Amino acid sequence: MKIATIFGTRPEIIKLSTLIPLLDKEFEQVLIHTGQHYSYKMDKIFFEELKLRDCDYTLNIGSGTHAQQTGMMLIELEKVLLYEKPDMVIVQGDTNSTLAGALTASKLQIPVAHVEAGCRSFDRRMPEEINRILVDNVSEYLFTPDEISYKNLTCLECFPSDKVYLVGNTSVDACLRARDLFNQETLDDYSLEKGKYILFTLHRQENTTVEGLMEIMNALNEISNNIKVLFPGHLRTRKVLEENKINIGDNVILTEPLGYKDFMGLLTNSKLVMTDSGGIQEEAAVLNIPCLILRDNTEWMFYVEMGKNLLIGTHFDKIVGIVNDLLENDEKIAEIEKIEIPINQGATESIVAILKKT
Ligand code: UD1
Ligand code: UDP
Repeated sequence: MKIATIFGTRPEIIKLSTLIPLLDKEFEQVLIHTGQHYSYKMDKIFFEELKLRDCDYTLNIGSGTHAQQTGMMLIELEKVLLYEKPDMVIVQGDTNSTLAGALTASKLQIPVAHVEAGCRSFDRRMPEEINRILVDNVSEYLFTPDEISYKNLTCLECFPSDKVYLVGNTSVDACLRARDLFNQETLDDYSLEKGKYILFTLHRQENTTVEGLMEIMNALNEISNNIKVLFPGHLRTRKVLEENKINIGDNVILTEPLGYKDFMGLLTNSKLVMTDSGGIQEEAAVLNIPCLILRDNTEWMFYVEMGKNLLIGTHFDKIVGIVNDLLENDEKIAEIEKIEIPINQGATESIVAILKKT
């Protein structure tokens, strides 16, 4: 069987990093990078760190509006798929690259396998939610990461259960492999001590409007009066911060996006993480770091329902109130850390085993 794996952004590279080598071993695989992410620290660094082979095609689509970006991807992907004629296309997650890959393939009647299917925030203001729904609906193989996403598809959306597989999340495999590769000296580079800083990331479209970002940054600056904050800034966010000269507190260390090994290590050593990232929610739970989600909803409810991760929203008072309360009460952090969660390794192998049976 010839498989074309299509991706384009940082989290897709990371979450496919365990699957790509295994697919190469078991099948003929064509690797297609849309070029949605292209800056070295959002892209190539992960190929180097995770020892991924070169892509067969890089489409260099780059940034743009949703329609420009997705439309250009559709046009370029169609050419490659018509030429390569794969038997199956694999996509991961919920980005515009995921959508373009799935849509192009399905229009050419090539079966699509969606890794991380069934996730729903039930918030259609998020571009990712639209992508998730559309991609699932044109996919033949739906690999869900947890019970909730499995039930979203089989119970709520009535997908035929023989198309839906509960396999776990490949990000668990990637994260457990990477955390041991951390160089402890990185803490010294930023003058940080284990357990004495907050890790912070933010990049969602809905949180990076000027007003939205200002409110969250004001909250972060207030919290940073009590504890150091390390903020590896997504390039989207850095642009809004710079263009609008948004104030960044003296105790907030804003860096470029970090490599995965450094990021995993800095997460493992942090007191807690504040983020609106999807991937980091799962990683924090696996690494047992309290995760405060700067959103009103999440497609990763599994850990929120268990009390492991907390949805704290995006308003100044609520963010500052909850975070400062945790910082003042170590026993509350200890309670979160005590909650045991199932850590399901092996999604990568399960996906390959299912594909081998097709
Ligand atoms: C995209 C995904 C989002 C995912 C995120 C992972 C969509 C709709 N969004 O959001 O779901 O969580 O990736 O990080 O697909 N930029 C650079 N260099 C890069 C990439 C981006 O400078 O290599 C800057 C550009 O100014 C660009 C902006 O970041 O306009 C946004 O990039 P884009 O890929 O459109 O969306 P993300 O916010 O990265
Ligand atoms: N990540 C990283 N360096 C950073 C920030 C994040 O390597 O500076 C990793 C993180 O560990 C996770 C992934 O990037 O695996 C998450 O990507 P992002 O938050 O951009 O996207 P999302 O998961 O929200 O789609």
